[in-house]
Parts: sequence; C-alpha cells; structure tokens
Amino acid sequence: MSDKLFRVVPIEQVQDRSAFNSGSEPLDSYFRERVTQDVRYRVTACFVALSKDGRIAGYYTLASASVFLGDLPAKLIKKLPRYPSVPAVRMGRLAVDQAFKGQGLGGALLADALTRVIRSDIAAYALVVDAKDNTAADFYRHHGFLQTDSEPLTLFLPLATVPVLTNNYK
Ligand SMILES: CC(C)(COP(=O)(O)OP(=O)(O)OC[C@H]1O[C@@H](n2cnc3c(N)ncnc32)[C@H](O)[C@@H]1OP(=O)(O)O)[C@@H](O)C(=O)NCCC(=O)NCCS
Repeated sequence: MSDKLFRVVPIEQVQDRSAFNSGSEPLDSYFRERVTQDVRYRVTACFVALSKDGRIAGYYTLASASVFLGDLPAKLIKKLPRYPSVPAVRMGRLAVDQAFKGQGLGGALLADALTRVIRSDIAAYALVVDAKDNTAADFYRHHGFLQTDSEPLTLFLPLATVPVLTNNYK
C-alpha cells in the first residue's frame, strides 16, 4: 500500500465532483459541469488528485497547443527551427481545493503534468499556461515559467532542460 498523501488519477476514475471548491468559481464550475464533456470529445485530458480518504484535492487539464515563434524571447528563438510556431502542451487549468492549499499539492500537480508531457513519445517544446491573474502568474514564475512577449499572463516552461521528476506528494 502506498504511503503517499495523494494519488493522481484520470478523471474517468472519479465519480462525484460536486464538492470541489478551489475558491475560483470559473475553475470550479468548469470542473463540476463541463470537463467530462471536453474529455469525451478529446478536447482536453484531466487528472485529479485524490486524498487518502478519497476526497478530490485538486485537478489539472492538459491539451496539445502551439506557441508562435514571435511570442518567444529572441535568445530562445535563435535555437529553434524557422517554423511559424513550435509544438507545446497547454495546462489550461490547475486548481487545488481550499482544504488542501499550501501543502505542496499545486507544485506536485505541476510536476505530475511535466512528467506526463516529458515522458510522452510526442515532442513538445514547452508547457504553456494561461494564468487567470497576477497571483497565479506568480505561482508559475516561482516554478521557473517565463513570460511570453505578447501576453503577460501566458507563461511557458521550455521542456528540454526539465529533468524527469519523481512524484512525491508528501
Ligand atoms: C495556485 C494554486 C494551484 C497553488 O496551489 P497550492 O497547493 O496552494 O501551492 P503549493 O503549496 O504547492 O505551493 C508550492 C510552492 O509555490 C509557492 N506558491 C504558492 N502560491 C504562490 C503564488 N501565488 N505566488 C508565488 N508562489 C506561490 C509556495 O510558496 C510553494 O513554494 P515552495 O515550494 O518554495 O515552498 C492554488 O492556490 C489554487 O488552486 N489557486 C486558485 C486557482 C488558481 O489560481 N490556479 C492557477 C492557474 S489559473
């Protein structure tokens, strides 16, 4: 039996999402009402952190995306092929239930997402996020994300330098 505080499962393994409350109404209502339809139509994938007693502690979504070369800093563009854009993965949403905030779960879910993307056989240059506000952007900056040139709340993390991480939710 695992001694980890949380386990991360695909949303298909989760039944009742009604109690989830991150404090962000758009993130909560999307998770409660919309996400399974988007998963069914393969518009997104969604992964859920469950606590030891089976409560939903957090979730994130992943989908394929691209980044326009012109949105990247000049020093990074120099190393990339002259295509109009490079492949990426977007973490469209990330939320931790209020009862579980400040325990390292947000960072652990980010690490879980990075691990899935880096282990994929399909290449992606970066993980991209659209922070909902400056506080969220600070969370991503804290984890090494860089700002795109076009949009201050769109941040990205180049994946070539990210090591494959070992998840540790303790
Ligand atoms: C942002 C959010 C996911 C963070 O989750 P969390 O579980 O409380 O964060 P963690 O405990 O994992 O924090 C991990 C690290 O990030 C830091 N951190 C957390 N929030 C931060 C913020 N807003 N700005 C800067 N750093 C932050 C912590 O201090 C911690 O640092 P450390 O590893 O050096 O000790 C959570 O607060 C949340 O769900 N917010 C509402 C939704 C949201 O804003 N989502 C973001 C995407 S739009």
